[in-house]
Amino acid sequence: MALILNPGAYQKFIRPFLFLLPPETAQSLAEQALKFAPLWEALSFGLDYNHPALRTDLAGIALRNPVGLAAGYDKNFEVLPSLTSLGFGYVTGGTVTRDVRPGNPQPRVLRYQADESLVNAYGFPSKGLDHAVTELEASLPNTMAPVVASVSGLDIQEIVTCHHGIEPYVSAVEVNISSPNTAGLRIFHDVNVLTDLLNGLNECRRKPLFVKMPPFPSSTRTGDGADARALILRLATLCAELGVDALTVANTQPIQDARLAVGSGGLSGKLVYHAMLRMVSELRTAVGDSVAINAVGGIFSGRDAFEALSAGADTVQILTSLIYRGPGVVRSINKELSHIMELKGLKSVSEIRQTS
Ligand SMILES: Cc1cc2nc3c(=O)[nH]c(=O)nc-3n(C[C@H](O)[C@H](O)[C@H](O)COP(=O)(O)O)c2cc1C
Repeated sequence: MALILNPGAYQKFIRPFLFLLPPETAQSLAEQALKFAPLWEALSFGLDYNHPALRTDLAGIALRNPVGLAAGYDKNFEVLPSLTSLGFGYVTGGTVTRDVRPGNPQPRVLRYQADESLVNAYGFPSKGLDHAVTELEASLPNTMAPVVASVSGLDIQEIVTCHHGIEPYVSAVEVNISSPNTAGLRIFHDVNVLTDLLNGLNECRRKPLFVKMPPFPSSTRTGDGADARALILRLATLCAELGVDALTVANTQPIQDARLAVGSGGLSGKLVYHAMLRMVSELRTAVGDSVAINAVGGIFSGRDAFEALSAGADTVQILTSLIYRGPGVVRSINKELSHIMELKGLKSVSEIRQTS
């Protein structure tokens, strides 16, 4: 069991075996293991890390710690009870779409192992809204942390339908307008279209709404890059004006790689960490304190989480570090984060931002 719980042992003994397999095969194997919910519930004593200073709040949702699972790991809400046993403060399932979608052709995931990064071009494979609701109904009684649902679609009506269908089962809904792998999503980067979408969601929503932002362009040297950056800042302030509760910052960074069937995908992991920190800081300045920020991109350690919270985030999310470091990474991030807070005399997560 120490092999699973300890990130060092996981990296030495389990990851080499998993990384012999193609990424999607390794992921299916991990999902099979996560189907044994009672095993993970039993292991939760070794995976959890509780510290009073880590308890926090995200848009009114009480969290035992600020480390969430990012969207994309459990796309169809099929292993939620086990994921909530890994010690996360909250778990984001999805992205789910209204209809069943196959996603892009394979290969659609690559490892950049030397940089502890990934590139994915999934393109929203989804078993659809009805399947997600069935899974949520069955698993919610056994979840140990709040669940957020990530939804998306290619037009406003599809997203609104998905939001309304899933909202009753979760603590909050995150709208993904930013996957770089899905042709069609860019329509929501138009201020008028995003305004219509958010107004449509606001008409009947009852729970917190998060928006997953696209990253800043990787280069600002060209005029296009500067324009794209300004547009993203405008989209963020628009979200704040229209009452969005949290911005999730950010989705994967577009990148070309000919080994992918579709030739391009989204970069995640350590290679995006510094860009994520800069973006969190700039968005915090742009939106002020009215909106929460969930920082996501290359967070592997408590030190990384502390820096993201110092840059202006309220919570952090992880995905790539779970794949590179194994399930014990959640505990190790929380443990190191609480140690740093103790050393600095900080008694709550919100104090991190206030004092930096
Ligand atoms: C394999 C994979 C699948 C992903 N799928 C989704 C998704 O369905 N929806 C979404 O909003 N983000 C998705 N993402 C993006 C992550 O949620 C996150 O924003 C990004 O990976 C950066 O965080 P990380 O460096 O901790 O992985 C995916 C990322 C990866 C690596």
